[in-house]
Parts: sequence; C-alpha cells; structure tokens
Amino acid sequence: MIQTIGKNFLWGGAISAHQCEGAYNEDGKKPAAADMMLGGTLAQHWASFGEPIDENKYYPTHRAIDFYHRYKEDIQLFKEMGFNALRLSIAWSRIFPNGGLNDEEPNEKGLQFYDDLFDELTRNGIEPVVTICHYETPLALYEKYGGWKSREMITLFEKYCRVIFTRYKNKVKKWINFNEINSMMFVGCLGPAIRIGRRDPDFMPVILQAAHYMLVAGAIATKLCHEIIPDSIMGAMLGGHKIYAFSCDPKDQLLAMLENEKQFYFIDTMMSGRYPYYSERMREQYGVTLDMTEEDLKLLKENTCDYLSFSYYQSMTVSADDAKEQTAGNMSKAASNPYLKSSEWGWQMDPDGLRIFMNELYSRYHKPLLIAENGLGAKDVLINGTVEDDYRIDYLRDHIRAFKEAMRDGVELMGYLPWGCIDLISCSTGQISKRYGFIYVDLDDEGNGTLKRYRKKSFGWYQKVISSNGEDLD
Ligand code: BG6
Repeated sequence: MIQTIGKNFLWGGAISAHQCEGAYNEDGKKPAAADMMLGGTLAQHWASFGEPIDENKYYPTHRAIDFYHRYKEDIQLFKEMGFNALRLSIAWSRIFPNGGLNDEEPNEKGLQFYDDLFDELTRNGIEPVVTICHYETPLALYEKYGGWKSREMITLFEKYCRVIFTRYKNKVKKWINFNEINSMMFVGCLGPAIRIGRRDPDFMPVILQAAHYMLVAGAIATKLCHEIIPDSIMGAMLGGHKIYAFSCDPKDQLLAMLENEKQFYFIDTMMSGRYPYYSERMREQYGVTLDMTEEDLKLLKENTCDYLSFSYYQSMTVSADDAKEQTAGNMSKAASNPYLKSSEWGWQMDPDGLRIFMNELYSRYHKPLLIAENGLGAKDVLINGTVEDDYRIDYLRDHIRAFKEAMRDGVELMGYLPWGCIDLISCSTGQISKRYGFIYVDLDDEGNGTLKRYRKKSFGWYQKVISSNGEDLD
C-alpha cells in the first residue's frame, strides 16, 4: 500500500551520549570504553583503544560538546527547527559506574540527569528515542572481562536495563537495544568493546561468540521492556549499506551475497527470533562452536523486536578482484563505485541505494523501519556566524526524496532522524572537524574553542522541511 508522511511521522535528529555529553567523570560517572580513544586519523583512533587513559592528553569524548551542561540550550535549537523526536543514548556508566560490577545501587545523580533531560525534551514537544548502548560499554567491564567476551555481561546488561526501564517507564516508549550491532563484523572495539584486530585469526570466532551474548542480552532487554513498559516498542539497529556486486561476474555476485549475510546475521536473528539458515555454515567456516544454551534460543525465539531502525550513509560495492580501486566506508573498505561521488572521507553517496535498501529491508521483515541515522560528514567553514552548507542540504534533500519514493513503493517508515543534528565527536576518527550538524559547535580537533553554537544554512532549510511535513525540499 502506498505510504505517505503522516502526522505521527518522527522528524528530528540523532546523537549519542559519548559523542556529545562530555562530563565523562562527573557526578559519579566513570569512563566508558570509548573514553580511551584519542582521535586523529582512523588508524590512530582505533590504536588507542585499550591503552590506559593519560590525563595529560586530549581525549575528544571527555568534554565532547558539553551537552551534559548545555542540553537546555541545544534542545531550544532543536525545538526551533521543529523536531518532534530526538534519538539519544544513555551512558551505561553514568547509571552503573562500574557497569553493575560491585555497584550495589545505581548512581542517583546519573539517573536524575536523564530524568531532567527527558523532561526537558517532553516539555518542548520532543519525544526521546533511546538507545540503550551506543558503543558505551563501561570501562570497568572491558577491564574485567575484555568486553562482551564473557557470558557474565548478559546479567550485567539485564541489571542495567531493568533499572532504566523502571525509572523511565513513563518517559520513554521507543527504545533501541544496541547501536549498529553488525558493526562488530568489522571492528571489535566499538560494539562489544573487545580489543582484537580484524586480521587476527581469532577475530571471527571471538566476534561470533560475543555476538551471541549480545543477541541474548538484546532479547532479554526486549522481554523486560515489554513487561515493565507494556506500551513501549523495542527496535533492532542495523548499520546499513546497500551492497552491490561490482559486476555481473558470478564471483562478484557471490561475494555480495556473503557480505549481505554478514550484514543481516544479527537483525535476521533479532527480527525473526532464530539464527538465519546460513549461520551454521558461517560458524563452520570459522571453526566456531558457540557457548549457546536451549534457554538462549528460547529467549531469542520469544522476544523479537517490534521495528527495525538503521543508519544509512552510503552504499558499498564489492569485487572479488582485490586490485580494484578501494574507497573508505563506515568502518569498512570496499571497491570504488564509478557511478557515485564520495564525501571528503571517501564515503560514497547513494540516495537511490537508500530506496533500494529500504525495499530490501521491508520485504525481509515486514515491520516498520526507522531511519535512525543519515547525513554527510564534511569540513565546514564558519563565516560571519554561519556555514553555507549547500552540500549538506543537497545530500539530505536527495535522501529525503529517496525515502519518500520508498514509502510510495509501500515501505512503512516511522521517521527520519539524521545523524549529528548538532556537530559532535566522530565515532570512527574522534574528530569534530567531520561535521554533520545543522548547528555548528565552535570546537577544533585539539579541543580549542568556545563551544558556542551557530545555526548553519541547513538549519533554516530543515526547519522548512519539517514545517511542510517533507513537502518543501527547496
Ligand atoms: C554510525 C555511528 O556508525 O555512524 C555513529 O552509529 C557515528 O556513532 C556515525 O558517529 C558517523 O560516523 P563517523 O565515523 O563519521 O562519526
């Protein structure tokens, strides 16, 4: 059935705690694993994961954009743009500073912060859409267990979920379990907080086991959420790419099929309640026998997600020929697609890919979709108190057109929440100079700046888009 943008459509933006809040050790909070990362080039940023925090160095997430102290001002700007929703995450180590390990009680100041934040959003007509863990495993759990390598993590995650569902049951009705759970197929340090290189022969066995623990924890979160907040919905979250084969060579096509299996392995499980048919062969290929119980499988079966949220920045083209020119991607590298333009960071922009991808997702699950991230990371120049970011407007306009087409194709879409609606710290490089926002934040990659906020040209444009309910895209 043809879908249109209805009055309940979510228009807003998306951020995460560690990329915005700062205050990384204030009011009882202790560091998250992401707070070990130093920023710089992508390689430097990843390499700093697992090294002890050196207080003499600048860590981008420690102060970030100081959303912790400035959220009221930022929410006023979101309101001015017309947002009716904001996706954000709770920092687990603000609630349980040690991840629940030896934390008898949750940290009241941390709980109060989110109470105040959710109240402020609600007062301003903005519904919070909350990610339970956006790459924010507490450092204490990394130190104790090496991240999600241990089954103990499931119990600690359950403890955290129970506390936040109980506390915020009247304030938050839309939840997302883990941010981009499939990103762990590319990088260990973010989602599961595991220090392991992708070329390590143990990479896939370790990741597949951690994935199992996270999937079970996600199922428990869904169960608790439905029990404690009966009128709530829980979403899975995919780091999404439309994957193309570089050519009609069956070898390229086969590779595209296998890459898609890696991409969908997690959400196939969370949306349908059982591991996909191809999972056994995948495990066999990597010589993995999972620590998996009958009880785990029962939990997966009985607690599927209600909707699918996903990020979409680019498509990915794969070739069996390693000699093909490569381009950078969101945590991955792929063959360069000659039909597409790239961002300054080499991400290939592909709005038609969004429409195709949404159709693929919807035909796979037949559950509502939510665009939980989309946007263009670019170097902006502030001149006379604003940024003429027509390149960002063009990118977003093309993607809005594409999702409207997908809706006309019949895809159910709950909303559009572009990433980094206010400039924030990049997840893959720790830079702030990779900006996504409608709002410019005066801060550089070394931590200098007043943190003052400025409206970019795209701010007024997005305001018009929202007030016309997606009709006026000029
Ligand atoms: C997604 C993450 O992968 O992409 C965000 O969920 C991240 O946390 C976003 O910031 C954009 O990536 P980057 O590396 O440009 O910050």
